[in-house]
Amino acid sequence: MRRSLAAAAGALLAGAVLVALLVLAGNTPAAATDAAALTPSERAAILALGPWPPAPVRDAANPASGSPEGIAFGEALFHSPRLSPTGLRCASCHEPWRHFADGRVVAQGVAAGSRNTPSLLDAARHRRYGWDGARDQLWQQSLRPLQDPREMPADAAQVAALIRSDAALSARHARIFGAPPGTDDERVLREVGLALSAYVETLATPRAPFDDWRDRLAGAGIEPATSDAFPAAARRGLRLFVGRAGCSACHAGPTLGDDAFHVSLVHSMTAPGVLDPGHAGEPANRFRTPGLRDVAATGPWFHDGSAARLCDAVQPHAADPGLEPPLLTALERRDLVAFLRTLSADPPADESSRACD
Ligand code: HEC
Ligand code: HEC
Repeated sequence: MRRSLAAAAGALLAGAVLVALLVLAGNTPAAATDAAALTPSERAAILALGPWPPAPVRDAANPASGSPEGIAFGEALFHSPRLSPTGLRCASCHEPWRHFADGRVVAQGVAAGSRNTPSLLDAARHRRYGWDGARDQLWQQSLRPLQDPREMPADAAQVAALIRSDAALSARHARIFGAPPGTDDERVLREVGLALSAYVETLATPRAPFDDWRDRLAGAGIEPATSDAFPAAARRGLRLFVGRAGCSACHAGPTLGDDAFHVSLVHSMTAPGVLDPGHAGEPANRFRTPGLRDVAATGPWFHDGSAARLCDAVQPHAADPGLEPPLLTALERRDLVAFLRTLSADPPADESSRACD
């Protein structure tokens, strides 16, 4: 009798210790059921978000691509205040220390724009550029701001005159493209775009805690433990991401972006009373799925910068015709944010990328 009482007390104590441990680990009993092993399909979906980094991107049609001299020329142009008569540089909006974005709601060139400045990290991994994916060549996109009257307006003649008139720039141009800048302004402008894109190709996000966890899952076969860098909340968020929340239907592959267009639930104006049409054609308001690597560091979010917190961007925001995005609870959104933060090597500490109610 005494022995069974002692055993019952022992079992109670063990139960209490288990509950205390779960509480300490920040797990609610409901979350504890999420600790179940990954299913084979979850595992496959998680492995498809890597490996990282992939092989470097090279453009065989671009003589500057992959050439140290071409990349250095592109970098110099990227930082030069002389490309634009206004003194605006590419780096004025794509600031290296801000992960090549600018932290503003919408871009501020010579006039206010209507779209948020995207980070250029991993841009070369995409096949479509701009929020609406209007361009499919990186060098063309690299010239777009030079031609946009609201950004850093310059025309081909001005850019070509700069390269021709500066002996150092002209000599660098000749070494890369095989001949000094000729009299064809459009051609010189295109070559400037090629040099800029050779530099942009080299901008890549480093490996992040998610990648270490994913690679251990791929290698060992048994699921790696969670850690400070990849906490239990991130694991729950990841399972939602590839599961019920349906995120990986669009945020697919190692960049977590499919380069396809989806109807956005975010509507914005390009001018008072004028809706941003998004990608050309029907249905309206389609935008390209952005990649999510390092996303915690590049707020505010969405094409119009309307999500001030990463948590707000995790609300249903895109759908394909006939498909309703699932509603998410506050706890689920918090877990998704915890997962998204593991896509940054060094996730920012500020509240906008952490707070979630
Ligand atoms: C006034 C701010 C501003 C300046 C200056 C600027 N950009 Fe941008 N950049 C943007 C904005 C805003 C977008 C998104 C455009 C859109 O969706 O219509 C963008 C998009 C891009 C993209 C596409 C990224 C992607 O993932 O789709 C590239 C590449 C790029 N810029 C390169 C450059 C280069 C090179 C320069 C200098 C010649 C430059 N930018 C100057 C604001 C700027
Ligand atoms: C139907 C396709 C689709 C699904 C499903 C989807 N997204 Fe998106 N996502 C997009 C598109 C398109 C945008 C750009 C929307 C815009 O700016 O108007 C976007 C933007 C984002 C952004 C902002 C990125 C930035 O740089 O500003 C985040 C964060 C994000 N999605 C996370 C998620 C998460 C988490 C889920 C799952 C809960 C999810 N998405 C589900 C297509 C999708």
